[in-house]
Amino acid sequence: MAGKIPNDVIDDVRSQTNIVDVVGQYVQLKKSGNNLFGICPFHDEKTPSFSVSEEKQIFHCFSCGRGGNVFKFLMELEQISFPEAVVKVADFVGFSLAETYRPTQNVQESSEVTQFKQLYRQANELFTHILMSTEAGQPALDYLHERGLTDQLIETFSIGYLPDQADLMLSFFQNKEVPYQTLRQSGLFIETQTGKLHDRFSGRVMFPIRNAQGEVIAFSGRVLVKQPDQPKYLNSPETVIFNKRKVLFNYDLAKTMIHQERKVYLFEGFMDVIAAYSAGVINGVASMGTSLTTEQLALLGQQARELIVCYDGDRPGIEAMKRAISMLQQNTKLELSVVVLPSGADPDEYVRQYGAEQFKTTLQNGVETPIAFELRYLKQGLNLNNEKDQLDYVQQALAVVAPIESPLEIEIYLKQIEADSGISFATLKRQLQTLRVKRATQQPLAPAPSQYDYDLPPEPGTPIDGPPPIPGHPQATVTRQPQRLTRVEHAEQEVLHMLMENDDIRLQLENNADFSFVHTPYQLIYELWRAFLAEGKSTLADFMGYIPDDLQALVVQIDALDLPEEASQEALNDCLFVIAQNNIEEQLREAKIALKEATKLGNASEETRLTLEVIRLVSQKKLGN
Ligand code: CTP
Ligand code: MN
Repeated sequence: MAGKIPNDVIDDVRSQTNIVDVVGQYVQLKKSGNNLFGICPFHDEKTPSFSVSEEKQIFHCFSCGRGGNVFKFLMELEQISFPEAVVKVADFVGFSLAETYRPTQNVQESSEVTQFKQLYRQANELFTHILMSTEAGQPALDYLHERGLTDQLIETFSIGYLPDQADLMLSFFQNKEVPYQTLRQSGLFIETQTGKLHDRFSGRVMFPIRNAQGEVIAFSGRVLVKQPDQPKYLNSPETVIFNKRKVLFNYDLAKTMIHQERKVYLFEGFMDVIAAYSAGVINGVASMGTSLTTEQLALLGQQARELIVCYDGDRPGIEAMKRAISMLQQNTKLELSVVVLPSGADPDEYVRQYGAEQFKTTLQNGVETPIAFELRYLKQGLNLNNEKDQLDYVQQALAVVAPIESPLEIEIYLKQIEADSGISFATLKRQLQTLRVKRATQQPLAPAPSQYDYDLPPEPGTPIDGPPPIPGHPQATVTRQPQRLTRVEHAEQEVLHMLMENDDIRLQLENNADFSFVHTPYQLIYELWRAFLAEGKSTLADFMGYIPDDLQALVVQIDALDLPEEASQEALNDCLFVIAQNNIEEQLREAKIALKEATKLGNASEETRLTLEVIRLVSQKKLGN
C-alpha cells in the first residue's frame, strides 16, 4: 500500500506545475485579460464560462461553480482521489516521486476496509468452492446449467452457492478466528437482540458484487426455489466498502469495452447482464435493483458517450424504462437510446429463446430515441379513432416533444403525431409553441439537485476575475438568470431570508423535527448556515466564503429579497405551511413510485406498508387543503 504523501512533497509538485499546461491538455484555452477561458469540461455549454488564472494557479467555472487547484481539477475530471491526482501531476511534470507514494492498488486503505475486503473475498471463495466442487452445491449447479450458464461463465462471474444449512458461513469464519466485531460489522450476518450472529444468506445462489477494481464488496443472493414470502434476490446491506449508489454490477469487466466503444448497455437484472455477456455483449451493466443514481451516471459518463437502456420488455419494465429516461434526460450528457425486446421478454429469456446472434441483431436494429419510444407507448391502450383518446394523445405527445431543442427533430416528431392523430401539422406546431412559451416562463430557478450532491464538505473558494463579455451576448448569459419562482420556492427563500436575519427562527425550525426544505439547494444553505453559526461566525460576508461557489448567487438573491424588516410570525407560518404541503406531495409521489416497484417485485409486505403510507399521505394532504 502507498504511504501518505508528505505536505512538502505535495507543495513541491504543485510549485513545479503550471495549471495552464495541465488543464490545456483537456480544454482549449484562450487568453483574455489576466485569465484564460474555455468551455467547461464538467458540463454542457456553448459559451465559455470556465476560467484559469495562471497567476493564482486555480480554475473556476462561472456556470457550474466548480473550482480549485490543479489537483482538484484532475480529481473532478477523472474521478480520482487526492493522492492519485498528485501522482498524476507529478508524472506530468516529470517530478521524481518516490515509489512509496505510488498506489499499489488502493490508496491509503484503512485496515477496516482491508479486513472487510478480505472477508468478502474469502466468503466468495467459499461459495464458489461449494458450488463447483461439493455435493451440497449440486442442486444450484444444476439450476444454473438449466438456465443456460456454462461453467466458464459461472467462473467469469464467480457465482457461488450457500446451502440452506444453519450458520455455515459463521462457523467458517469462526474457525479462521475472525474477531466478533469484524464479523458483526461486515454485513454478512444478522444480529439477534442478544447479540448473536447468524448467516444473512442461506439456500441462495450467490452473485458477488465487485467494485470498479474487481474486488468483491457485496453479494446478491438468489433463492433457488421461489418461496412465497422470501424476496427473490437478497442484497448485502451497505457497509464501509459497499455503497449501492456508486456500484454497478459488472462494471469492472465491462469498463474496457465501454471505453473502447464509448457505449454502455444498462440492463435491469444480473441475469440479463450475464446473458448479454454470454452472447458477446460485454459492455453491459445493471444497477443494484434500483434506478440509476447520479453517482453511477458520473462513472459511466467518464467512459461512454452513449447509454442504451434495455430493460425487460414487459409492462413494468417499460414503466421503469420511462422513469429512467425522464431521470436521465435531466441528468446526463450521455446520448440516450432505448431498446425494447419483442414479446415482453427480458434479455436473459430472449438470448435463451432466440440465441446470441438474434439478440445482437435486435440490440442493433431495435434502438429508438427516447422520444420515439415514448410516443410509441403513449399510443398503446388508446383508441385513436375516439376523439377523447385522440386529444389525450396529442396533449401528452406534445408535452413529450416540448423540451426538444432541435427544429429538425421537432419536425420529425410533429409529422409522426400528425400521422397518428390526423390533426394538422400547422395546428400541432401552434399548440407546441404555446406549450413551449409556458414552459420557458415556468422553469423553476433551482437547478437539478445532482449538482449539489456533495460528498466532501465544500472548500471556501477563492474568487477570481469574472469572464470577459462575450461579443453579442449580454453578460448575464453566463450567470443564472433570475426566473419566475414557484410558490414553494418563494416560501423557501423567504424562510431562509428571515432565518439569516433572526436567530429565533432558527430555534423554531430546529425544534420542528418534521421540517425540511423541499429543494436540495435550500436545504443545503440551511444546513450550512447552522454549521456556520455553530463555528461561532455570523456575518453574511464570511458565510459567502464558507459555502460552495454555486450556492453564493442563490444566497445573494435570498438576501436581496424585498421583505419587511421585522419578520412576522404569521408570515413565517404561512411559508412553513406551503413548504409542508409541498413535502407531503413530494412524499406522496415517491411513495406511489415505491409502491409500484414493490408490486413489481412481488414484495407483499412492502406493498401493504406502502399502500397504508399512500393512504396516510392522501388524507394528510386533504386535511391541509
Ligand atoms: N431485485 C432485487 N430484489 C428482488 C427482486 C429483484 O434486488 N426481490 C433486483 C435484482 O438486482 C434483479 C433486478 O432487480 O437482478 C431485476 O429483477 P427481475 O427482473 O425480477 O430479475 P431477473 O434478472 O429477471 O431475475 P431472474 O431471471 O433470476 O428471475
Ligand atoms: Mn429474468
